[in-house]
Amino acid sequence: MMTGKVVLLGVTGGIAAYKAVELVRLFVKGGAEVHVLMTESAQQFVTPLTFQTLSRNPVHTGLFNLIEEQEIGHISLADRADLVVIAPATANIVGKIAHGIADDLLTTTVMATRAPVLIAPAMNSNMYRNPIYRENEDRLRKYGYLFVDPVTGMLACGWEGEGKFQDPSIIYQEALCALSVKDLQGERVLVTAGPTQEELDPVRYLSNHSSGKMGYAIARAARRRGAEVVLVTGPVALAPPSGVTTIKVVSAAQMREASLREFADATVVVKAAAVADYRPEVRAASKIKKKGAALTLALKQNPDILAEMGKNKGDRIIVGFAAETAGLQENALSKLRAKNLDMIVANDVTREGAGFSVDTNIVTILSRDGNVVDFPVMEKELLADIILDRVVVLRDQGRGCDSE
Ligand code: CTP
Repeated sequence: MMTGKVVLLGVTGGIAAYKAVELVRLFVKGGAEVHVLMTESAQQFVTPLTFQTLSRNPVHTGLFNLIEEQEIGHISLADRADLVVIAPATANIVGKIAHGIADDLLTTTVMATRAPVLIAPAMNSNMYRNPIYRENEDRLRKYGYLFVDPVTGMLACGWEGEGKFQDPSIIYQEALCALSVKDLQGERVLVTAGPTQEELDPVRYLSNHSSGKMGYAIARAARRRGAEVVLVTGPVALAPPSGVTTIKVVSAAQMREASLREFADATVVVKAAAVADYRPEVRAASKIKKKGAALTLALKQNPDILAEMGKNKGDRIIVGFAAETAGLQENALSKLRAKNLDMIVANDVTREGAGFSVDTNIVTILSRDGNVVDFPVMEKELLADIILDRVVVLRDQGRGCDSE
């Protein structure tokens, strides 16, 4: 997802410097060319060799030992960067950048670059709350510097409070966001994800195997691309995506209520949730006791949320999903028509590498205009961008159309 991108990672001297090692791993795994710049004090915490080994590039430590290179080192690094990330960032580095001090390789590079700069502070909570630090951070934000806020937790100094280095996977997501083209800016994207649970009694429910991974990947991708995103999610074991308004629901009725409320303001809807089609006719107030060898459950149909949205489509772009175990294209096409969708993403959930709980999917995308494209197995993360690329094309062709 970062293929071809040059990322400079500035590591400054804090105990969280060792966590930047994980960040390098994520950048490299994402396909980025990573160059690590370490301040003097960062080298007291982690050796340059660790970063060199993981980044597969020489680590830059001093302003003047780059002179052996043909170009002036810090300028060439600054020019080549698509993104500069400073993680962990001490109060000292934030203060220096905020006041135009350029007295080492990292600060001169930051001063010289035209790439976005993403700063992940980590420090003692009193330092983090110090009005001088706050002023420096605000000043940088005003100049367009991006920040990933630290979290609250046990700090290395023994204090419990704000200032703990953010999870590297979240910093990675923010870095992806900073690198993304903002082609969904101005759109309000509603995504639904995960299963619903329909209670039978206080201890049992009917549900399905949906993990929510596809919907969450779409919500993250839409937010990266500049959209305002609302995610309505059934119960899943995933962390709420940062920068996304996440509404947690349990049953299909709750999902319907939250989704229809958010639908009013949405310009794009992607309905990846696996909504239970039926719920128990009655929810027993106490645990159902076993009585005989067999038990028959009476179920009643849940409303089809997507079909309701399709009826009031307006000029929204609506994307549905179809989970099939047979007759993929015919079934998906009839859902696309019946629910008045612009596009449907169909997957045969019985295929290996496709469906509910895995990180990959194999889909066929069918469009309202009759276009049908089969995609090979791919990461849900990548598929999310392919789906949104198509949404952008539809939007640029003149919004979604309403055949009703
Ligand atoms: N969907 C919905 N509300 C429902 C059922 C489905 O909004 N009560 C949406 C899903 O989120 C998905 C699409 O409709 O985007 C298709 O869901 P799917 O389960 O594949 O199909 P169904 O329409 O439920 O039909 P069937 O179960 O008979 O295949």
